[in-house]
Amino acid sequence: MNVKLSFTPVSQNPVDLLAVVLDDEKTLHEIDDPALQAHVQRAAAAFRDKSLKREYYATLEGAKVAKAVVVYWSPQLKSWNLWENLKTFTARALRLARDYRLARVGLVLNAKDAAPLVGKAVEGAVLGTYTFDKYRQEKDDFFAKDAVLTILAHPDHQADAEARKARYLWVSENVNRARTLVNEPGNAVTPEVFAAEAGEIAREVELEVEVLDPTALQAKGYAGILRVGAGSANPGRMVILRHGPKKASKETIALVGKGITFDSGGISLKPGDKMWEMKGDMAGAAAVLYAMRALGKIRPDVKVLGILCCAENMPDAGAQRPGDSFTAKNGKSVMVDNTDAEGRLVLLDGLARAGEEGATHVVDIATLTGAVVRALGPSVAGILGTDRDLVRRVIRSGENHGEPFWELPLVEEYKESLKTPYADLNSIAAGGLAGAITAGLFLREFVPNGAAWAHLDIAGPMFKDKEWKYFDAGALGFGVKTLVDLCERFRDPLA
Ligand code: BES
Ligand code: MN
Ligand code: ZN
Repeated sequence: MNVKLSFTPVSQNPVDLLAVVLDDEKTLHEIDDPALQAHVQRAAAAFRDKSLKREYYATLEGAKVAKAVVVYWSPQLKSWNLWENLKTFTARALRLARDYRLARVGLVLNAKDAAPLVGKAVEGAVLGTYTFDKYRQEKDDFFAKDAVLTILAHPDHQADAEARKARYLWVSENVNRARTLVNEPGNAVTPEVFAAEAGEIAREVELEVEVLDPTALQAKGYAGILRVGAGSANPGRMVILRHGPKKASKETIALVGKGITFDSGGISLKPGDKMWEMKGDMAGAAAVLYAMRALGKIRPDVKVLGILCCAENMPDAGAQRPGDSFTAKNGKSVMVDNTDAEGRLVLLDGLARAGEEGATHVVDIATLTGAVVRALGPSVAGILGTDRDLVRRVIRSGENHGEPFWELPLVEEYKESLKTPYADLNSIAAGGLAGAITAGLFLREFVPNGAAWAHLDIAGPMFKDKEWKYFDAGALGFGVKTLVDLCERFRDPLA
């Protein structure tokens, strides 16, 4: 998607479609063309008296400034804020432009107040024009080839607008890359492919990288990834990516991602209905990988590690069985009660590695439980943790970018339900209640001593089955923006 900035008045920027966003509190536009201004006023009146249910659209016969104008009203989208709505409207304007083949699109954000919103419009454009059409014969290259979005911004904020454009283009591109990896099927993205992708990214943005294959995992005692991958023809990998800041940093953030490239459930096989969705069970690791790619250029003032725990969970003669047990690196033994609770088993290796690397802050991100989807639905992720500050920071970063997290409690008394006579811990809780919480309690047993920890359960927003906000149906790349923001702002005080 070609995005340009312009700092001259609307009348000096002829386009095919001009988009204007109206809000109750803020005015984002300044229009120096009376005919256009009249349309915007007519739209505003229609929105206020509720005679318009969606956008205002008009073609402008013979006008030089624009062939058509589209006006949106932010209060109409109730559950989100202006920042989110601007992204949604940018996406909608661009799709409208595609359908009517209006190649030059202008978005008016030239009021002084609108300066901080330029990045959000860029994000709406990049995320809103993404489609995963790789495996379809019919493709539309309108956004890739013909379309140009010109964001009209205030001339006093030129440098600021350029900086926001660059930052949001880059991060949004990484969100889209994460979406692609999640949308790709399990036959295309195996743990080996995942590791190869990480290697390329490390070279591209100059991160250190280390890949542990099964031999190395065995030698180092990372049993979880090996046990989960034991039934697969595509054996597991652990990938470690490292960003070191120029100035020495006393804090180290470890981002640990669940990378199950396909989760059949293993011997505790899942029912067939919607099992295909488990090609997305590596969404946590994808978020970490592309957050690391983004951070590789942003270079925040803090050491950041990305640890990807990749395996394929398949049933086979070599697969782990319910009742098997193994010992984690911290000495705790685990009885594998249900092989479908595999995410926590690969993550415990990642948590161990975070400890070995001296991480002071550990954030794991995983499509971990169906229970969190039942609790919070498909649009909100769960968060649990041992450190107030870290949990609040993640929630704040999510709020900054339209990725909602809701905290669930680590209920101490539920720890009882992880007891078994056969090992130190059972891999799942007896009784089956509060599955997202008991999964968190299980993981907590493997968090390195003294490290602040937050666990992000993104099973809900892994995929959308239909269009949502500025996203097409499919993977959202959920978590990339939050993790990038968290690391970028790590030195900022917590407001
Ligand atoms: N990957 C699944 C969780 C999941 C479910 C993600 C739906 C996205 C959408 C995970 O590995 C799993 O199978 N969890 C089990 C755990 C159970 C066996 C304790 C679950 O949630 O049913
Ligand atoms: Mn599973
Ligand atoms: Zn899983």
